[in-house]
Amino acid sequence: MKIRRPANRTRMLLLAAGLSGTLCCAACQVEPAGIAALPNSSTPAMTGHAANSRIKLPAPARAGTTSVEEALAARRSVRAYTAEPLTLADCAQLLWAAQGVTSPEGLRTAPSAGALYPLEVFLVAGRVTDLPAGVYRYDAHAHELALAAAGDRRAALSEAALGQSPLHEAPAVFVIAGVHARTTGKYGDRGVDYVYVEAGAAAQNMALQGVARNIGTVYIGAFDDLAVKQALELAEDEEPLGLIPAGIPLSP
Ligand SMILES: Cc1cc2nc3c(=O)[nH]c(=O)nc-3n(C[C@H](O)[C@H](O)[C@H](O)COP(=O)(O)O)c2cc1C
Repeated sequence: MKIRRPANRTRMLLLAAGLSGTLCCAACQVEPAGIAALPNSSTPAMTGHAANSRIKLPAPARAGTTSVEEALAARRSVRAYTAEPLTLADCAQLLWAAQGVTSPEGLRTAPSAGALYPLEVFLVAGRVTDLPAGVYRYDAHAHELALAAAGDRRAALSEAALGQSPLHEAPAVFVIAGVHARTTGKYGDRGVDYVYVEAGAAAQNMALQGVARNIGTVYIGAFDDLAVKQALELAEDEEPLGLIPAGIPLSP
C-alpha cells in the first residue's frame, strides 16, 4: 500500500520551514516562552516486561464545570508550563479524551472510519505523580497504561523535533501514532487520510479537555518520524503523527 506522505527528509524540511513561520507568527500574538471493526482489534497484546507493568488509571470524570463553548473560546496552544507535575488523574483524563471507550460496543470519544481505530496513544511521562518516567501505551479498553519503554524520553523527543522546548519542559508528552494498515486494509489509499483526520480529532479532544482542567497543550507536528520512533521504541508499523506536550500553563 503506497502511503501518500512526503519522504521523511523532505517532510522535515517542509515542517522546519513551516515551524519558523508558525513561531514567528505566534510571537506576534503571544510571547513564545522558550521558544477493527469494533473494539478489541486495535491494541496489540502486551508481552514481556510490559505485560507485567500495567497501571490501572483513575476512572475518567464524565462531568465538569467548563462548557464546550467556554473550552472552545479559551483554547490556545500553550508552550510554557509551571514546574508542577501532572497527576495520574490528569493524564488519565487526557488519554480518555483522546481515545476513551464510551459505549458497550467499544466506540470511543473520537470518531473512527469504519470504527477500525488505527490510533495508538502513548504517554511519555517525565514528572507525573505516582508514575515512574517512561513511555506508556494507553490500553483504551482496559483504561490502563502498559509500560512500553522505561526512563525519561522527553529530551530525546525534543531532539527529534528540532529541539522544541515544550517537549522536554512539559511534565508529560502525549504521542498519537497511527497504524495505517488497520484502515487502508478496508479503504485503500483513502484510509491514509482517514488516519490523519482521526489524529486531529483525538488531538482536539485532548486540547479541549485540557482547557477544562487548566492543562495547557500544543500540537507539535514538526519532527523527524524515524527519530521519534527510535526515541520511543515504537513498533515498525506505528507511525508518529502528533506530539502533544501537556502541563499547567505558566500564565493562565
Ligand atoms: C498540524 C499542526 C502542526 C503543528 N506543529 C507545531 C509545531 O511543530 N510546533 C509548535 O510550536 N506548534 C505547532 N502547531 C501549533 C500552531 O502553531 C498553532 O495552532 C497556531 O499558531 C495557532 O495558535 P493557537 O493554537 O494558539 O490558536 C501545529 C498545529 C497544527 C494543527
